[in-house]
This record gives sequence, C-alpha cells and structure tokens, in this order.
Amino acid sequence: MRTVRDIKVFENIPILVRAALNVPIENGEVTNDYRLRRALPTIKFLSERGAKVILISHLGEQGTETLEPVARALGKLITGVTFFGETAGERTRGAVRSLPAGGILMLENLRRDKREQSNDPSFASELAALADIFVEDSFDTCHREHASIVGVPKLLPSYAGLLLEDEVRELEGARTPEHPALAIIGGAKFSTKEGVLTTLLEKYDHVFVGGALANDFLKASGQEVGKSLTSNADEAAVKKLLTNPKLVLPIDSRVVPVDIITAMNAHMEARVAHAGEVHADDVILDHGPGTAVLISELAKKAKTVLWNGPLGNYEHGFVDATDYFAHAIAHSDAHTIVGGGDTIASIEKLGLLSRLSFVSTGGGAMLDYLAYGTLPGIEALDAHPIV
Ligand code: 3PG
Repeated sequence: MRTVRDIKVFENIPILVRAALNVPIENGEVTNDYRLRRALPTIKFLSERGAKVILISHLGEQGTETLEPVARALGKLITGVTFFGETAGERTRGAVRSLPAGGILMLENLRRDKREQSNDPSFASELAALADIFVEDSFDTCHREHASIVGVPKLLPSYAGLLLEDEVRELEGARTPEHPALAIIGGAKFSTKEGVLTTLLEKYDHVFVGGALANDFLKASGQEVGKSLTSNADEAAVKKLLTNPKLVLPIDSRVVPVDIITAMNAHMEARVAHAGEVHADDVILDHGPGTAVLISELAKKAKTVLWNGPLGNYEHGFVDATDYFAHAIAHSDAHTIVGGGDTIASIEKLGLLSRLSFVSTGGGAMLDYLAYGTLPGIEALDAHPIV
C-alpha cells in the first residue's frame, strides 16, 4: 500500500486528508478525543514537511452537526488549526489558497452535503479540486462507498495515512492469528456480522458470540429469549454457523422482566438465568457470571484475543460481563486486538486501554476488513495513476 512516506514533494502542496474526526460531542464540546489523538501522526507528518493540510470528515450519522468543536479540540493537541464552515466551492478554494505552508484547515461536516453519502461524482470533483494529493486516513469509514472515500481517489494521486497503515498491518496480522486464538464478537444485527463470523470460524479456535447478537443464536437453537432484542436474522444462516464446534455461546444471562427495563434500579433487579430459566416476558441484558468466567478462561489460554462489540446493554448499566472480560484480557499475555466505539469506551473508562496490544479505530470497518481482507476505501487508493 502506498503511504504518505511515498509522497515526494510537500512544501506548499495542498493535501486533502480524509480523517476520522467522528467523535462524541455533548453541549458543543468533544467528550472523548481518542480518535483525534490517533489522527495526529499523519497530520503532524504532513504539516511538519510544509504541506497545506486540509482535513475532511463526517460527524454523526445525519450530517446535522458541525465540526467546529472538533477543530477546537484538535487545536488543543496541535497548533495551527483553523476551521472553515464550508466543504467545497470557490470560497473553500480561497481558504485553501490563504493557508500557509504547514497550516491545518478543517472543513465542515461532509454529510451536510447529501452528495457525500450518495457518492455523487460532482461532489467528489469539488472536493478533489481543493488539493493536488489525497490521503486516506479514516479507516473507520473505509467500508462506506461515499464520495470522499471512493470518489476522490479516482481523481487525485492517493496515499494511505499512517493510521490507516497501522490498522491494515495489525488487522492483516489478526487474519492469521497465533494459536490458540479467541474471537469475541458482540453488538447486535446478525446481517452485519455474518461475514466476519464465517471468516473467524475458519481462522480462530474459538469464536464467542456475545451481546444482543447471541440472542439470534440462542433463539435459533430453540432457547427462550423472551422479549430480548433480536435482529430478524436469517435463521438458516444462523443455524449453519451453530453447527460449527468452534462457536461458543453464553451459558447464562442477566435478565429483567420487560416492564422494569427502564427503571433506575433495573440493574439491581436483574437475576441470573441459565438455559431454560428465561421467561417469556424477560429481557436478556447481559451475560451472567458463568459466561464471563468461561470466556475469560479461554482468553487466559489464548495467544491471540480479538474483541469487537459490547457484551451487555451498557445504556441501561449492564456492564458486568464487559468489565470482567476487559480486566481478564488486560492482564493476559495474549496479543490483544480490540475495536468498536462502545467497546473501546468501556475499556477506556476502566483505565485499561494502554494494556491492550492494538486498539482499532474501526467498528464496522474492522469487522469488514477481518471478513474480506480489504475495504472499498483501500481498494480505491489504486484508482488514479501516480506520475
Ligand atoms: C464510526 O464511528 O463507526 C465511523 O465513523 C463510521 O460512522 P458511520 O457508521 O456513521 O458511517
């Protein structure tokens, strides 16, 4: 993969960087700058060599939010950051022209323009017109076929940033793990996890299905899941995976009756249920202590542990299994690779992030990379010839 290290000339060259600036914001302030810190190496690399660094990113799903607070937060980590409240067009080109060598200009949220998500070539052309070179460093969105991700690289010489390079190196390694290898896939929505589960069941020794995703498997295996979250999964596809002896399912759950799920003390009211003990009006909200011990014991024996997706419903305070397992892997000798925004946030809250071998900034992108060994945004980097 061509990276920023292969760029020949930097001084005064406008370089468009698709960065991962999609960070949580509350009351107009960034509440977690983890992704910004991971974006710094590429920004510094280009700025220190005198490039005009133009940062583009999306923020939030709908594109209603502004990146202005993100520019302020980035400005606390590196000097020379300015914000411009538009994304493309003549005024934006003017702002780029006024940028000094080494300056960093953050443009407005890409998703404010509907043409970003519809991958409209006219939007890609307007973005490409801002710069001479494109750098892809937003691994977290490389699974999306949006204008800034797959459209722009068709129009400019394109390179991977240092974060993207790290992600690909580490996740490529995770596709050929040292054995015994344990994968933990949590979260929800079977359709977005089927590919990665199929690949991991080939390459890993144990694949634990956790979180709400496990409900689809418990249901397909004939167990009562009450009113728990399921994803209308293709039952035949789930059943096919269920026959694989490497697949590990929860052996117990924390459940509450559906009518108290939103109560302040729902967590206190939870009871542990084994197979056959979940009632028709129960909701499964976390794994039980037996499951937490089971997967932690597997992690202790593993040389590789890969984890993406929370195990319990953290919004309602069901974090016991996630916390227990986070401690287990933080103290294991295995090579540990973890990804997914909610999983990282949970581990960060426990102060254990630095004890992991690699933290991926991708959620869905990490899963798709593990499943297929490439992503549309990575493939696109070869679309334009380098002269
Ligand atoms: C993420 O936070 O997972 C990425 O930034 C992708 O965001 P999206 O799911 O809104 O495309």
